[in-house]
Amino acid sequence: MSGIPLKIDGKDVLAQEGMTVLEAARSAGISIPTLCHHEKLAPVGCCRICIVEASQRGASRLIVSCVYPVEADLVVTTRTEKVDRIRRTLLELFLAHAPDSPILGELAREYGANRDRFDKEPSFCVHCGLCVRYCAEVKKKHAVGFIDRGIWKEISFVPEIAAKECGACKECFPLCPTSYLQAVFVLTEALAFPKER
Ligand code: SF4
Ligand code: FES
Repeated sequence: MSGIPLKIDGKDVLAQEGMTVLEAARSAGISIPTLCHHEKLAPVGCCRICIVEASQRGASRLIVSCVYPVEADLVVTTRTEKVDRIRRTLLELFLAHAPDSPILGELAREYGANRDRFDKEPSFCVHCGLCVRYCAEVKKKHAVGFIDRGIWKEISFVPEIAAKECGACKECFPLCPTSYLQAVFVLTEALAFPKER
């Protein structure tokens, strides 16, 4: 039988060539948390929540499962002390930005994250990029993008495009893990949409 054999959480998995470790895990019914991943989008591996431990020929390392391609005889463990610690810290950082996100709250409970570990800086966006990439890659509209850089980076709708395209679409709204996107849209609509003549 063709395919790439690997082991995930003790289970033998036969992955297809070109699959990522995340895809192979999901094909075997093994769940790994994700924030910046979407099946319709090219993976970028930016949130790091899907990190897992992998070993091959005795050497163990951390890999980002949504971008890491399957390799023969890889032994993957999706939950280890180290993996859980990293996910916990990431969640604590994300929660400082988006304390009321139900998705983050649920993951925080699962990983025992302390939502008060870091000072709150509610910018509400965790920079997963799903809205920006979905609009560009799937809808080909570029109605929403990132502006600024580093800690000042934030999403912004392009009013001239959004006024024409978003009303009948809004497919990005349910992708946002913090619900911030919808608030930005409503604000842009109220303040910046071009006025009808
Ligand atoms: S607004 Fe939401 S979907 Fe868009 S980048 Fe920020 S967290 Fe992700
Ligand atoms: S889901 Fe893999 S890095 Fe975000």
